[in-house]
Amino acid sequence: MSRPKVTVIGAGNVGATTAQRIAEAGLADVVLVDIVEGLPQGKALDLSESAPVVGHDCTIRGTNDYADTAGSDIVVVTSGLARQPGMSRDDLLAKNAGIVGSVVAQAAAVSPDAILIIVTNPLDAMCHVAIKASGFPRERVIGMAGILDSARFRTFIAWELGVSVTSTNAFVLGGHGDTMVPLPRYSTVAGIPLTHLLSPERIEALVDRTRNGGAEVVALLKSGSAYYAPAAAVAQMAGAILGDAKAVLPCAALLQGEYRTEGLFVGVPVKLGRKGIEQIVQIELTEAEQAAFDRSAAAVRELVDKLAAA
Ligand code: APR
Repeated sequence: MSRPKVTVIGAGNVGATTAQRIAEAGLADVVLVDIVEGLPQGKALDLSESAPVVGHDCTIRGTNDYADTAGSDIVVVTSGLARQPGMSRDDLLAKNAGIVGSVVAQAAAVSPDAILIIVTNPLDAMCHVAIKASGFPRERVIGMAGILDSARFRTFIAWELGVSVTSTNAFVLGGHGDTMVPLPRYSTVAGIPLTHLLSPERIEALVDRTRNGGAEVVALLKSGSAYYAPAAAVAQMAGAILGDAKAVLPCAALLQGEYRTEGLFVGVPVKLGRKGIEQIVQIELTEAEQAAFDRSAAAVRELVDKLAAA
C-alpha cells in the first residue's frame, strides 16, 4: 500500500515544521509548496537528509508547481503574510484572503478529494475563503485553532498545579482570537473539573494568558509568530484523519445551526476521521457560556462581512 500524500502550502515556519512533524511521525509523504523559488526545495532537501538520522522513509519534496501536489489526501494551508508595520488588520485580511483563495483554488483543482486544513490567520475568516475557493463540502474544510488554544490552556494548567500535561484536558470554543471561549468547567485534570481545583481568580488568570497566548509568543520573538505548537496541532489533525481515529478535537467548522450559529466557521468539538469532520459534537452551554460563544461568533461574522464587502 502506498503512503498517504499530504501537501503543505507555505514553506515558512509553520509549514516547514508541519512537514517535519508529519514525515517524522511516518504519517505521509509530504509535498511542500511555496511561491518563493528554491525555498520549499531547499527545506525539503534538508528535511530529507535528516531522515536517515531520524529513521523514517517518508519522502519530502519541495516545489513551486501545483501539478506535483495532485492526488493529495490532505492539503494544509499555511501560506500568507505576517502583519507588517503600518499594515492594518484589514489590510492583512484582504492580502491573506487573496493568497488563500488563489492557493486553495490551484490545489483543489488537482486534488478534488482532499481534506483542507487551514492555518493562515485570521483563521476563521480564511476558512470561509477556502470553502468558497474549493467548492468542497463542509466535512472537508477544517480550521486549526482549537487544539492550539487548548494546548496553551493545558500547559498553563499543568504548570499551575505541578502535574503532567498528559493528565490535563482543556476545552476551548469559539473563534481563534481575543474572543475565544475557554470552558473551565469542561477542563479537567485526570477527569476532575478545574473548577474543583483552582480558585475563580486563578482560573481567570490562566484563561487570560490562554487568550493572549499567541501575542505572548510574538512579543518574545519580536519577528514572526508561534510555529512549534501550531505545527504540532496540525500534525495531530492529520494523524486523526489519516488513521481514521474518530478523535474528538476542537477545530473550526462551518456551523449550520449547531450552537445556535448559521453559516459561520467557529471553533467547536468535532469528530475527525478519514472523511474529515464526521460529526459536530454539541455540548450543553450555560447562558453565560452561550453568550460568550455568540460574541465570539459575532467577531468572526464581522471579518467575513468585511471580506464580502471588499
Ligand atoms: N503561495 C505560496 N506560498 C506563499 C504565498 C503564495 N501565494 N504567499 C506567501 N507564501 C509563503 C511565504 O513565501 C512564506 O514562506 O507563505 C510562507 C509563510 O511563512 P512565514 O512568513 O514563516 O509565516 P508562518 O509563521 O509560517 O505563519 C503562516 O500561519 O499561524 C499562521 O498567523 C500565521 O497566517 C500565518 C501563517
